[in-house]
Amino acid sequence: MLRGMWDDRFEMSEAEALEVFRHTGVLRLAVATPKGPLLRTVDGVVHDGALCFHGGDQGEKLAMLGREVMVTTDHTVAHLPSWFFDERRACPATTYYRSVHLRGRAERVDEPAAKAAVLQALMERFQPEGGHQRIEAHDPLYASVVDKLLVVRVRPLSIQGKAKLGQHKGARTIAKALHGLWQRGAPGDLAALRIIREAHPQRPTPPWMRGPAGTLLEVAPDERELPGALALVEGEYWNVGVEASRIARAHLASSAWMVARDELGQVVATARAMGDDAQAAWIHDVAVHPRYRGRGLGQALVGRLLDHPRVRGVRRVLLQTRDAQGFYATLGFMAHPPRHDTLALERVPTELGRPR
Ligand SMILES: CC(C)(COP(=O)(O)OP(=O)(O)OC[C@H]1O[C@@H](n2cnc3c(N)ncnc32)[C@H](O)[C@@H]1OP(=O)(O)O)[C@@H](O)C(=O)NCCC(=O)NCCS
Repeated sequence: MLRGMWDDRFEMSEAEALEVFRHTGVLRLAVATPKGPLLRTVDGVVHDGALCFHGGDQGEKLAMLGREVMVTTDHTVAHLPSWFFDERRACPATTYYRSVHLRGRAERVDEPAAKAAVLQALMERFQPEGGHQRIEAHDPLYASVVDKLLVVRVRPLSIQGKAKLGQHKGARTIAKALHGLWQRGAPGDLAALRIIREAHPQRPTPPWMRGPAGTLLEVAPDERELPGALALVEGEYWNVGVEASRIARAHLASSAWMVARDELGQVVATARAMGDDAQAAWIHDVAVHPRYRGRGLGQALVGRLLDHPRVRGVRRVLLQTRDAQGFYATLGFMAHPPRHDTLALERVPTELGRPR
């Protein structure tokens, strides 16, 4: 490593770097062999503090055993086009990413129980839904496969990670990157927006993400916000009798979901929408914590949801409400009779989830 080229502001801790290995799909391994350099791509798993992968007992991966290898993986957070930052110059075009490198010695795992544990960890990583018998070394179903397969472990001698997320840029540039991602709204852009914001905790929240009463409008909530959002909507009249897991899945699968968080990070409002990006979007599960009602938060959150990239381009936004017509009227919603003399129909599968 040429130390002079390394910018400390981008450096990740070892624990953060190992997390990237845990979450990215494939690993690339490079090794110098007597026959020349070898570079291979494998599905790997972090197990017991080491990177592990498997292969055939005859394959070229054998050439790695006993040698020092470099393992790398990366995660492209977002390609940021020049026009996010400058109307004319191409120069500001950039990519924000995380990339990690691990140096270690490739060792063959021989002990059957240890091999089985690595193979089971690989299954848990790539087939988390299960659907197979647990891999145990002495199970007749697996014993001979465990015996034959090559299992390799690379214990880290050093780990290095680089997270290039604009740490060297000023507040105005980061504000432009965040706003550009919100405006462009391509797949992955809102998740990228959140990653970049979290890398800049000291930077001010962009005005368009600020809600009333000191709240933050989180445009890319994830599993971390689910319990808070569920607590707000679970008891509401439209969810009576619906299991929490179903409401949770609906939030994660919605094309647009936003929450508001208070200064302590607690979820104090939530709203979601689903749509087809062109014709219509349907708003569901809108709720504000009782302590925050009447302070303009519902209006701010639903207003921002209407500008969400998955919602803003549709012809019609629809919703149903029992008694909040006045609230939605402040956002331009009106009751409308069925169009073209049509009737709204509904089908409830006889067994939930399994239409006949
Ligand atoms: C409805 C709800 C989301 C409104 O959130 P909120 O943060 O209190 O609303 P805001 O403070 O942004 O109010 C915006 C405007 O709507 C009005 N408004 C708020 N709730 C209203 C309601 N239930 N009926 C009629 N008008 C209402 C407010 O008076 C305010 O008008 P103003 O600006 O002229 O004063 C909130 O009361 C709530 O969570 N209710 C329980 C869940 C629910 O009914 N959700 C909607 C299901 S479709």
